[in-house]
Amino acid sequence: MPPSDADPVVEVRDLVRTFGRGTRTVRAADGVSLSLARGEALALLGANGSGKSTTIKVVLGLLAPTSGAARVLGGPAGRRDARARTGYVPEEARRLPAVRGRELVELFAAIQGVPRAERRRRVDEALDGVGLAADAARRPVADYSRGMARRVALAAAVVSRPALLVLDEPTSGLDPVGTEQVLALLRGLRDAGTSVLLSTHERGTAEGLCDRAVVLGAGRVRASGRLAELLAGDATPGLLALFRRVERG
Ligand SMILES: Nc1ncnc2c1ncn2[C@@H]1O[C@H](COP(=O)(O)OP(=O)(O)OP(=O)(O)O)[C@@H](O)[C@H]1O
Ligand SMILES: [Mg+2]
Repeated sequence: MPPSDADPVVEVRDLVRTFGRGTRTVRAADGVSLSLARGEALALLGANGSGKSTTIKVVLGLLAPTSGAARVLGGPAGRRDARARTGYVPEEARRLPAVRGRELVELFAAIQGVPRAERRRRVDEALDGVGLAADAARRPVADYSRGMARRVALAAAVVSRPALLVLDEPTSGLDPVGTEQVLALLRGLRDAGTSVLLSTHERGTAEGLCDRAVVLGAGRVRASGRLAELLAGDATPGLLALFRRVERG
């Protein structure tokens, strides 16, 4: 059957990923299943070490499953055409290269196939969307602050308007204005049909973008469903009450 809009953009089934061996084996993902539809944004929530980044790396094809499977954009995770249609912001800014911010985003636009005639406008839009000022974009990214590095990585991830965005804690380290700017940018992309898989510890980021959430604990899905229902009745701000409920099981 030909692919259809109704097919999930991401489908993870019974994913197990272990690290180490013998008595030291860590089951970073221990039977995770989730799916993401076109134009949907899904939040991956859970305590430190619960398996969010591991799951994300399997979806990107950066880590192989120990067992189970991940399908992305109609093929096995990591396939070249799927990667070309996926934007990714890793949880840690890796050592950034000695190029200016604007050049970095231009490079991603070129690699991801943004037509030459549109590049300048699209790069401007992406930098503007993450609130990176023009003078900052002219500075080397190696000199950026943490939040600026996050912003430029996001701009590089969205500049090609990918079918899928995978964002590992996209707003961590951003100031409140930056967080709002980035959420507005991501909502616009989502509403235009981009699917978003993101991890976060920030309630505002999850609520500002995602209808549904999957809550992980020790590599397992402890809860999933509509975010509003998962958070219903939480008097305390943030995700503390949800985390506590999930830990109690
Ligand atoms: N490369 C690795 N080698 C060994 N263990 C790993 C590796 N990557 C992850 N783990 C382990 O797998 C578990 C899940 O880690 P993961 O990075 O997926 O958690 P996370 O939910 O993203 O946490 P955080 O909120 O801190 O980012 C942890 O126990 C971690 O120590
Ligand atoms: Mg992580």
